[in-house]
Amino acid sequence: MTEEATATMQGAIIDGAAAARALREEIARRTAALAARGIVPGLSVVLVGEDPASAVYVRNKEKASREAGMRGETIRLAASTTQEELLAVVDRLNADPAVHGILVQMPLPAPLDADAVIHRIDPSKDVDGFHPVNVGKVLIGDSSGFAPCTPSGVLHLLRVSGVETRGAHAVIVGRSNIVGKPMAALLVQPGVDATVTLCHSRTRDLADHVRRADIVIAAVGRARLITAAMVKPGAVVIDVGMNRIEDATAKSGSGLVGDVDFDGVRDVASQITPVPGGVGPMTIAMLLRNTLTAAERTVA
Ligand code: GUN
Repeated sequence: MTEEATATMQGAIIDGAAAARALREEIARRTAALAARGIVPGLSVVLVGEDPASAVYVRNKEKASREAGMRGETIRLAASTTQEELLAVVDRLNADPAVHGILVQMPLPAPLDADAVIHRIDPSKDVDGFHPVNVGKVLIGDSSGFAPCTPSGVLHLLRVSGVETRGAHAVIVGRSNIVGKPMAALLVQPGVDATVTLCHSRTRDLADHVRRADIVIAAVGRARLITAAMVKPGAVVIDVGMNRIEDATAKSGSGLVGDVDFDGVRDVASQITPVPGGVGPMTIAMLLRNTLTAAERTVA
């Protein structure tokens, strides 16, 4: 061991970009095999309005789907689109056999009703895993549905990083429908077998809960909330947060940080995901995987 390595024993970085790349290569191979049988997986992303962050996410999703050999399209609608018009677009995509996956980018501009839109998407094309049918299937462990992309990506990262989830205590911070709640459901399934504590903004003594975790999953959207003092030495730390903060040293004047104080926590964790380059790239890879699965199911 070098002197430098003994001076500070830092946790290993979980390379989400590399894991996502490997998965996307596998997806591209399976996509080519399916295309050879005459079925090209199709992903239709609907973007309403001009939110700049959403525009970037949507561009990345379309680009990634095309790189995997899929038919990726983005349907761009004006912010003034009515609920009826948006539902009509969903109906059209539901009925189109060339479309296997539908994703309506959230948040929707006011006064559009996101829940009504999610309910309208055919569950067999709901590659986001947001429809109540898919939410229910995830909870009961029915693999015929779709699990949401971010928690699936976290699970994949834990697997490829060799993290033992069986019997481990996983503490999730954040109870969103997109990450925290489905993450809890996935972690307690037989075969994954973690013991789960789900914390949120009203949790008393948050630090005491987090300190008992073998696996910490931070998904609250609060910059650097999780500090070294809250983490048990040797814990695995997964950071789902993406918070834009002011950074005078950056050219743009802002920077992206997670929900974990990376520099401090790295000194106590055994493994840790960075932001960016951790969970983020996995989310798109999982979206592609769900789209491929949706297409494969049409020939099964
Ligand atoms: N907005 C931010 N993340 C997501 C996502 O995973 N799916 C959709 N539909 N919208 C989002």
